[in-house]
Amino acid sequence: VPNAPKHTSYDPNRVFTNPLRIPEEATPEETASAQAPGTTGDATSGSATYYRLSIRATNVQLLPGPPTPMVGFAGRFPGPTLKAERGIPTVVTQANDWIENVTIHNHGHKVSAESDGHPVDYILPGKHKNYYYPNDQRAGTYWYHDHTMDLTGAHVYAGLAGFYIIHDRAEDVLNLPSGSYDVPLLLQDRTFKANNELDYFGNPHGWGGPTPVINGTVNPVLNVAARKYRLRLLNGCNARTLNLHFSVQGKPVPFQLIASDGGLLEAPVPMKAITITPGERYDVVMDFANFPVNTVMDLLNDDDPGIEPLLPALMQFKVTHTEVDRATVPPRLSTIDRLHEKDAVVFGTVELGVSADGETWTLNGTTYDPARIDIRSKRDKVTIWTLKNATEFTHPFHKHLVQFTVLDINGQPPPPELAGWKDTVGVPGNGSMRIIFKNEQFSGTYVLHCHRLEHEDHRMMIQESVEP
Ligand code: C2O
Ligand code: CU
Repeated sequence: VPNAPKHTSYDPNRVFTNPLRIPEEATPEETASAQAPGTTGDATSGSATYYRLSIRATNVQLLPGPPTPMVGFAGRFPGPTLKAERGIPTVVTQANDWIENVTIHNHGHKVSAESDGHPVDYILPGKHKNYYYPNDQRAGTYWYHDHTMDLTGAHVYAGLAGFYIIHDRAEDVLNLPSGSYDVPLLLQDRTFKANNELDYFGNPHGWGGPTPVINGTVNPVLNVAARKYRLRLLNGCNARTLNLHFSVQGKPVPFQLIASDGGLLEAPVPMKAITITPGERYDVVMDFANFPVNTVMDLLNDDDPGIEPLLPALMQFKVTHTEVDRATVPPRLSTIDRLHEKDAVVFGTVELGVSADGETWTLNGTTYDPARIDIRSKRDKVTIWTLKNATEFTHPFHKHLVQFTVLDINGQPPPPELAGWKDTVGVPGNGSMRIIFKNEQFSGTYVLHCHRLEHEDHRMMIQESVEP
């Protein structure tokens, strides 16, 4: 890594004593005083929930010593969690009270192009924008983050990321662990300077750091009851793929995988480890009832070579007491209404590549130009894209507007963790993958890109015009 700084501000023999922060839930505005969406071009008929978030500079106590200057939604890091009920729209007014241009994308959402946070749809300093989210999609773990052209990596690293969680009845009736037993985990890595400021250098290969920062907490511990918890794992690292497992005294602890990017899988999958590329989400259920009080469990990462190594332990869970557990993980979680290959009428290829000199990442041989349309597609057509990776690295491919399913990877059926709805997927080096989707409701210009944010910022991104 060029210009790798010296890191003196973390302790390699660390102890996990900082209580894990749980991002606060955003508080809706009184509807009476909330503004109707003016800039989105969407109609809000009937009821919607309104939020107003001020994007502003903030100081966050991450390490002992001086706080770290960051930028946060509502001045917080992570941003407040936005919760929505399927079918009840949300209007989020994002007010840019910061000094740089921003644009805010709700990752995984089916939204109009006006509300998608297009990379040059800037909110200038001192201005605001109303984003309209229909929430007409499955319950799941989504997230919102900055998407400014060339600066997404810098802005997300500085703090602009938060959870957006959709609930629905179909999920509620399953009686999965909920409330305080449903814990979102924003997994990130950071490099600190000796004065506790963040060190960021957006080099084209990716940036990370040795220090895990989980929900804005360094060396975190979560005290848990001896019962089941739902953990919503979000890889919010700029560039690092995480290979996670849980461990008690060096022994791996199995868990149940219940959901991927676009919500619940058909059935829970028992697993011992899970790989999450940047931008992906996986929800797991860990049953701490299998362990006596005072057990300490680690969440560990087996690091991927490529960027500066991360300390292997991300956080700890400590079982502090027993509790009656009425939550269940039923054998059948949801129905996935798959699109079928035989119904596909549109076919396309997206090639993930690199220039001959090895310096520039490309999609379909080109780099992002917001003035150019790269792919024209039609609404309501079942579409299959072949994602061809002509590089030797895994790239997390993310398509806006739709959830897709994976038909095959290198000709083989996808493993169970990739068999549900996805919006981001690691395309293996020198491999290929076919995905199937349908742009149902919206038309307009949307981007698709690598979610390794420094690749994206060096324009490993193209755009699609969805035509009615
Ligand atoms: Cu999470 Cu286009 O981004
Ligand atoms: Cu990439």
